[in-house]
Amino acid sequence: MGKTLIIANWKMNFTVHEASVFLHKLDKVVQNHRNVEMVIAPTALCLQPLSIQIDHAKYKLAAQNLYWRDEGAFTGEVSAHQLRGLVKYALIGHSERRYVFHEHEKDIRNKVQAAVRNGIIPVLCVGETAAERTDGETDMIIHNQIVSGLANLTADEAKTVVVAYEPVWAISKGKDFAGHASATPGDAAKAARSIRRQIQHLFGRETAQEVRVLYGGSVNGSNSAGFLTVTELDGLLVGGASLHVDEFSKMVKSAHDRR
Ligand code: PGA
Repeated sequence: MGKTLIIANWKMNFTVHEASVFLHKLDKVVQNHRNVEMVIAPTALCLQPLSIQIDHAKYKLAAQNLYWRDEGAFTGEVSAHQLRGLVKYALIGHSERRYVFHEHEKDIRNKVQAAVRNGIIPVLCVGETAAERTDGETDMIIHNQIVSGLANLTADEAKTVVVAYEPVWAISKGKDFAGHASATPGDAAKAARSIRRQIQHLFGRETAQEVRVLYGGSVNGSNSAGFLTVTELDGLLVGGASLHVDEFSKMVKSAHDRR
């Protein structure tokens, strides 16, 4: 088993100053992280200053989104080409991008490809809505989002990808992360198997084994250890709880203690 990946998706929280102070505090609290790859996904504005502040042996950075064209007349966008060298990972197809910003499958697939082309590891987020779950469509949705999201990659490129299973109904609004419904470790294990099955079908067994799969959706310091008992998972994608130093350090501890 490689290092357990913990990605903190800060979403649209923290100013540059607050982000810097947070990491300063976290650094004092977090111990025993040797078995953990800690990744921070702050707002785009914070990437440059945090890259100067952090110990790169300890923390990696991720973009929360990117645009697939390298440059041009695309007001408000930041390209994979511009992020190259600054981030190791980029979240792509997060449900807030899909449902709040109406990102289409075509955009998502182009973004995944642009990330890979620019040496950035895409973290492709997939997952069903509450209605789709009720209708028993979870597997089908995962299948469709994987097939579409990875369509522009070769089997070798696909090996590098991280897939995050984030059921939309389990994602908190941030402040309510502790009381919000999450999936069970059993749900996450089932989805992870389904993700690897789709990838094996598309790219073969070797690629399916190398792809890393995360669970995300109301993970916090109290339930992270439960998710990490799932051997099919390589880590966690955390929103609301990652904005709290104590929660974050508990999750890192549970990831470190996993093996
Ligand atoms: P949450 O967010 O942990 O607050 O549910 C997860 C995510 O959206 O990545």
